[in-house]
Amino acid sequence: MAGLSLTANAFQILEERYLLRNLHGTAIETPEEMFRRVAKWISGTEKKNGGHWEEKFFGMMSRLEFLPNSPTLMNAGLPAGQLSACFVLPVEDSLDAIFTSLKNAALIHQRGGGTGYNFSRLRPKGALISSSKGFSSGPVAFMKIYDAATEHVKQGGKRRGANMGILNADHPDIEEFIFVKRDGTSLQNFNISVGITNNFMNAVNKDLEWVLKDPGTGHAVRSIPAGKLWKQITETAWATGDPGLVFLDNINRDNPTPGLGNIQSTNPCGEVPLLDYESCNLGSINLSRMVTENNGVYEIDRDKLAETIHSGIRFLDNVIQVNHYLLPQVKAITLKNRKIGLGLMGWAELLMLMEIPYASTEAVKLAEELMEFVKKESYKASANLAGERGSFPSWANSRFYPENKMRNATCNSIAPTGTISVIADTSYSIEPLYALAYRRVGILGGKSQQEVNGIFKKKMKQMGYWNAELEAVVLQTGTVKEIQGLPGRVKKVFETSLEIPWEFHLKHQRAFQKFTDNSVSKTINFPAEARPEDISDVYMTAWKYGLKGITIYRDGSKEKQVLQRCNVS
Ligand code: CDP
Repeated sequence: MAGLSLTANAFQILEERYLLRNLHGTAIETPEEMFRRVAKWISGTEKKNGGHWEEKFFGMMSRLEFLPNSPTLMNAGLPAGQLSACFVLPVEDSLDAIFTSLKNAALIHQRGGGTGYNFSRLRPKGALISSSKGFSSGPVAFMKIYDAATEHVKQGGKRRGANMGILNADHPDIEEFIFVKRDGTSLQNFNISVGITNNFMNAVNKDLEWVLKDPGTGHAVRSIPAGKLWKQITETAWATGDPGLVFLDNINRDNPTPGLGNIQSTNPCGEVPLLDYESCNLGSINLSRMVTENNGVYEIDRDKLAETIHSGIRFLDNVIQVNHYLLPQVKAITLKNRKIGLGLMGWAELLMLMEIPYASTEAVKLAEELMEFVKKESYKASANLAGERGSFPSWANSRFYPENKMRNATCNSIAPTGTISVIADTSYSIEPLYALAYRRVGILGGKSQQEVNGIFKKKMKQMGYWNAELEAVVLQTGTVKEIQGLPGRVKKVFETSLEIPWEFHLKHQRAFQKFTDNSVSKTINFPAEARPEDISDVYMTAWKYGLKGITIYRDGSKEKQVLQRCNVS
C-alpha cells in the first residue's frame, strides 16, 4: 500500500491487538485505515483547518515518524474510547476507599490504561481497626488484591494492565514490601518502587537510625538502621529487579502545580509523576526517521524534528479534548492541568546512523543538546496553543504564572515505547539495542526467523564490512564483539545493552531528564555477573544526579519487569 510500509512483526501486532474488529473477531480495518481513524478523530476538535490537521496527523503516523501511546491507536473514535495510557489513583485508609480505587483501576485497565498508586496512607499490618475491633492486613495484603484483580481484567481483551505500587521508606511495613516479589509469584502485575526522600538518603549516607512512622498518627513505631534498609532494597533489586526507587523530593521540586497538592506517585513505568486522579497521554517521535543523509553521512534534520514536535504537541493537546473520561475526578483534574508527554524513540538507531557509540561522552552531549531542543520547541508549541486556545485552567496557580502562558502543565516524557517502537520498527525509547539480531515472529503462525537489525546491516554495508560470515556470527551471538578484523571503533558503535557500563546508561538518563519536565523511563541493564554493590552504586548515583526514579534489571535475575512481559520479541 502506497506510503505505509510495515514490518511483518508490526503488522502482526496491529492485526492481533489494534485494528478494529467485528463481532466475530475479524479485523475490519487495515493499518492505513487505523491511522486514518485516529487522525480524523484527533483532528475532529479543530475549529478551523480540520482537514489540514487530519492530513498532517495521518502523514506523521503513517510515515512512522510519530506514534501516540497504544490506547490512542486502539480506541480513538470508539464510543467511550479511553485514549490515555497513564493514571494515578489515591489509596486512602478505609475499606471503602481501597475498594473504590480498585474498581476504578479495573475500569481503567479494561480500557487500556495503566495505574500507579502510593499505598503509604494505609495503616500498617496489625494496626487496630476501630469499627470492627480487628487488625488491619496492611498495604502489602491490599496490593495483592489489586494484583489479583489485574490478572483477570485484560486491557481491551488483549493485554494485562500494568501497575506501579509505591510504599514510602518510612512506612512500618516497608521491609515486607521490599521482599514481597522475592518469591517470584507475588505482584506479577506490579512494578514496585520505594518512595525515597532526601532525608532518607542523608540517613543512609550518615549511617543513622531511620524512624518508621504510623501514617495515620505520625507517631514513631520503631526504627531501623537506614543502611540496613538500603542494603535490603539494593540486594533485593539485584536478585529480582524490584524494587526501584522514586525520588519524591525531586519529583515535587518540578511539580508544576504545587498548589493542587504534592505528587505521591507515578504511572506504571515511571515516566509521568501525577497527582491523585490525574491522567496523561503520551506520544513519541521516531528519531531514526528524523535524519538527512548525504553519502552515508547522517545528521539530525532539525527542521523536520521541529515541525514534528509542533504537530505532536498539538496532537496530544487535542487528545485531551476528544478523550472519553470514565471518572469525573479524572476528567476534572486532567482538564485543569492538561498534562501531556511528548517523547522519543529510536535514539540508539540514530546514534548508530551517526556512528556515535552509546557509551561515549559525545553521545551524552548530543542527548542533552537534542532534548534541550525538544523541550524548547515543545514549550513554544504549547505557548502558541495557549495563545490560540487559552492557558491550562490552573495556570494562575502554577509555576508558569505570570510570565509564561502555557496550554499544558507538562509537555515531555520519555516513555518506554514497548509496543509503539515495534510498530515503528525502531529501537525502544532511549535504550541501547539489546542485541543486533533478534527473532521475528512468523506472520500468522508462520515460522519465526532470526534477523539482524536493519540499520546495523545498512551501516555495515555502507562501511564496507558486511559479509556472510559476519552475518552468521551476529545471528548467533547478537553482537560484533567477537568478530576478528573489525576495528575497535566500529565495534564500539555497535555495542549492545549489556556491554555498555551502567555509568553510561545512567548518564543518558540524566541527559534526557535534564530537559524533561515529567520523567524518563529507563532500565539500567546489568550483566548476570554484576554484584549487589553495583546496584547500590547505581541507586546512589541516581539520587546524586537528581533523577526522579531508577529501575534496574540484571540479566537472568528471577523476575521480569511488567513492561518486558508486554513486549513482543
Ligand atoms: O508502546 P506503548 O504505547 O504501548 O506503551 P509504553 O510506552 O511501553 O508504556 C507507556 C505507558 O503505558 C506505561 O507507563 C503504562 O502507564 C501504560 N501501559 C499499560 O498500561 N499497560 C501495558 N501493558 C503497557 C503500558
